[in-house]
Amino acid sequence: MTYAPIEIAPSILASDFSRLGEELKAVEQGGADVVHVDVMDGQFVPNISIGIPVVASLRKATRLPLDVHLMIDRPERYIDEFVRAGADRVLVHQEATPHLDRALSMIREAGAQAGAVINPSTPVVMLSDVLDKVDTVLVMSVNPGFGGQKFLPIAFSKIRQLAEWRARYNGGYRIEVDGGVDLENIAELAQAGANTFVAGTSIFRTPDAAAATRELRRAATNALSQRV
Ligand code: DX5
Ligand code: ZN
Repeated sequence: MTYAPIEIAPSILASDFSRLGEELKAVEQGGADVVHVDVMDGQFVPNISIGIPVVASLRKATRLPLDVHLMIDRPERYIDEFVRAGADRVLVHQEATPHLDRALSMIREAGAQAGAVINPSTPVVMLSDVLDKVDTVLVMSVNPGFGGQKFLPIAFSKIRQLAEWRARYNGGYRIEVDGGVDLENIAELAQAGANTFVAGTSIFRTPDAAAATRELRRAATNALSQRV
């Protein structure tokens, strides 16, 4: 296994950008494993968020790996720049490019870990021919574009399918889930086979982001130890 069984990935989209450094410190203290960074272009998704300069600033502010989720059309145009800015992992949507295989190769060639993402309406089979070229598969459990949305349970069957293929074919990819992840669903998601849990609202929109990070990890870890 080349991936950690459980990773908590706070999504800074839900943080207070005027206090980004402090917010990062809080989740570091809470034991966060990676920092999830949502990049939106107002085309692929109906929202605009942050871009390359913010990734470069984050790189200076934390030693945690940066998990850069590109919600942009034809992401291959910007992969090199995001990696140069400090992205450790770059995740591209299957729906955003006709050349997913090429985009994933570009990420690895640039020196980062490669991730492929699917929207709630995209079946996992769309990724079956690239599973040997990814370090991460990210299953969206909301329609991308906004934080604070309701979790869509379609993610469970996708995670189970990906975990089954991983076991059957000895795959090395981690399974990540993004959108509406909280203390209500993280245990079942861990049992389904998810490893990396992106959480925005359930971490940063609480009184204590460090405690919320710890609680999510505890719930996921307990669920794994109880798995029969
Ligand atoms: C949604 C983003 C998510 C978002 C998750 O487009 O990809 O990473 O920040 O936020 P919550 O945890 O609030 O659903
Ligand atoms: Zn995201």
